[in-house]
Amino acid sequence: MSQDLSIRLFGKAFKTPIMVASGTFGGIYDKVVDLNQLGAVVLKSVTVNPRKGNPPPRIVETASGTINSIGLENPGIESFLSDEIHRYLAFDTFIIISIAGKSPEEFAFLAKKIQDSDIDKSKIAAIELNLSCPNVAGGLDFSTKSDLAFSTTKSVKEVTKIPVISKLSPNVTDIVVLAKACVDAGADAISLINTVKAMAVDWKTGKSLIGSQVGGLSGPAIKPIALRFVYEVRQALPAVPIIGIGGIMNAHDVLEFFSVGANAVQIGTANFVEADITVRITDDLRRLWRR
Ligand SMILES: Cc1cc2nc3c(=O)[nH]c(=O)nc-3n(C[C@H](O)[C@H](O)[C@H](O)COP(=O)(O)O)c2cc1C
Repeated sequence: MSQDLSIRLFGKAFKTPIMVASGTFGGIYDKVVDLNQLGAVVLKSVTVNPRKGNPPPRIVETASGTINSIGLENPGIESFLSDEIHRYLAFDTFIIISIAGKSPEEFAFLAKKIQDSDIDKSKIAAIELNLSCPNVAGGLDFSTKSDLAFSTTKSVKEVTKIPVISKLSPNVTDIVVLAKACVDAGADAISLINTVKAMAVDWKTGKSLIGSQVGGLSGPAIKPIALRFVYEVRQALPAVPIIGIGGIMNAHDVLEFFSVGANAVQIGTANFVEADITVRITDDLRRLWRR
């Protein structure tokens, strides 16, 4: 008999605790990966207006991860709700909509647009607040200042019945203060972590390999950092659902995140290495689960 990996989160039954991380699963992935096998698909962060993103190069490979600075390229909330999201609603899997605003009011505006839209809400498991995108000027403030993390989460909670996940940045001194602020504001879960601020240079030119000079490191290099953050938040907040993210490449990595207190995980950069890695990790996890 196949091992049941289902979990309950936000009062809903997820087929597995494996989700794909925001921004790492667009384009043709829905054609090459059986999305029906995933716990949830977290879509690319959407903003109020369409964004072209940052100048290239936007992504560079390093020894054990990539640095990206995409700059939140997306079609904007109107086009997202009328067009883009329908591709994913066709699948038998939960969708988590990621939103990114420039102010608490913009986050609330986006959440209200989603709440008031005619899309089938039963498929939307949660709205994830990208409080931590390090690539957009000022964006970092939401997850580096606890009062802003609080007011942003609260302003979203006030306008939607959809569960809210506050996604935090690792580029902070004390994650617990920020996680607590989000939970106090009503966050239904915390996801940890977004990318780690980083840089890659070509010594021959002395120039950055990233168009916007600095970007965000993801992939295996950041797994130990992510584990530490999940551990610290779990110690401080025993009850809050935590979604662990950062450098997950296989089922053993998933179990490491569960060991430190995650309830579910998201897989990002690994999707670039192997398009359907999430399905393989799910199969491996079924085999490892009993152990
Ligand atoms: C190319 C790329 C684009 C990303 N875009 C977003 C985004 O739009 N919103 C967001 O919250 N996180 C974004 N992220 C961060 C990932 O969702 C994830 O938090 C991070 O990459 C760490 O996980 P990983 O090591 O498994 O990739 C992006 C990451 C990459 C590599």
